[in-house]
Amino acid sequence: MKVGIIGLGKMGYNLALNMRDKGYDVQAYNRSKEKVEAIIREGVCGHDTIEGLLAALDDRKVIWLMVPAGEAVDLVISQLSPYLKTGDIVIDGGNSKYEDTMKRSDFLSESGVYYLDAGTSGGTEGARNGACIMVGGEKEAIAYLEDFFKALTVKDGFLHTGVSGSGHYVKMIHNGIEYGMMQAIGEGFNILKSSRFDLDYCAVAKVWSNGSIIRGLLMELTEQAFINNGDLEQIVPIIDAQGEGQWTVEEAIRLNVPIPVIANSLFVRYASKDTDKFSDKVVAALRNEFGGHKLHVK
Ligand SMILES: NC(=O)c1ccc[n+]([C@@H]2O[C@H](COP(=O)([O-])OP(=O)(O)OC[C@H]3O[C@@H](n4cnc5c(N)ncnc54)[C@H](OP(=O)(O)O)[C@@H]3O)[C@@H](O)[C@H]2O)c1
Repeated sequence: MKVGIIGLGKMGYNLALNMRDKGYDVQAYNRSKEKVEAIIREGVCGHDTIEGLLAALDDRKVIWLMVPAGEAVDLVISQLSPYLKTGDIVIDGGNSKYEDTMKRSDFLSESGVYYLDAGTSGGTEGARNGACIMVGGEKEAIAYLEDFFKALTVKDGFLHTGVSGSGHYVKMIHNGIEYGMMQAIGEGFNILKSSRFDLDYCAVAKVWSNGSIIRGLLMELTEQAFINNGDLEQIVPIIDAQGEGQWTVEEAIRLNVPIPVIANSLFVRYASKDTDKFSDKVVAALRNEFGGHKLHVK
């Protein structure tokens, strides 16, 4: 089967190689030419234009999008849709907002085109060697691609989650959980750093990775992060967020579901970007006003 892939960034590039290794005839397109040239050097068919990519696909087209959520997905769909026909399948493997996905699916279904939302987890290593993929969308399209999804994933790493939007919904919650778990790891190491003991964080992460209750990929990556970055002295403590954490919190508010850990980990990220810390200045000034408590002045 031929598979088109649009977006050869950190994830798409690795997924394309994974697809190629599993025996699929991958036809790849990327907006900037350097990545197309790089994947051609890996033996994958690369195209400079979306039209060129489409011309190289089977009559029933299967196209995997791996571009950032939001405008980029809409733009690529608007470029693709004039060429698509009944039965073709577009897969959004990125972290799109599930409500956007449902609208896009409705739009494409008017022309009989299937739109699958494939929440993809496992990072770049998973994309390259075996990911976890949770897919929402029509049963007929899922059945057509089930072997393909299973080929890209580790054992038991594929799930048809249900109707359109459900794959991205499950991935959104997955990412919310990821926020909370990473925050707990960060806080734990902060206590270790502040403690009376002279601890080797790398060795601690390693021992926790072996047989402990908190072992797992994130702990293994914690060890790796200390190996790669030493004591982290060079790292500026600013944590970016791409949207899934905020959407998880918004959804919990909509449903009246308490999620203190996830919500707090999102706000910690926001706080990390606030270098001025104006709210802290207000609180400090207030304490000074009502109690004469000491102000730390520049
Ligand atoms: N990184 C991860 O660990 C991870 C894991 C799971 C899911 N995801 C999701 O997967 C998606 C891709 O992530 P990534 O990490 O691979 O991102 P990335 O490295 O930034 O790559 C994004 C790719 O999309 C292309 N692109 C950006 N804007 C475009 C536009 N307007 N039109 C056409 N192409 C455009 C870029 O092309 P250029 O080369 O021309 O810039 C690039 O090839 C995102 O939704 C992300 O949230 C990421």
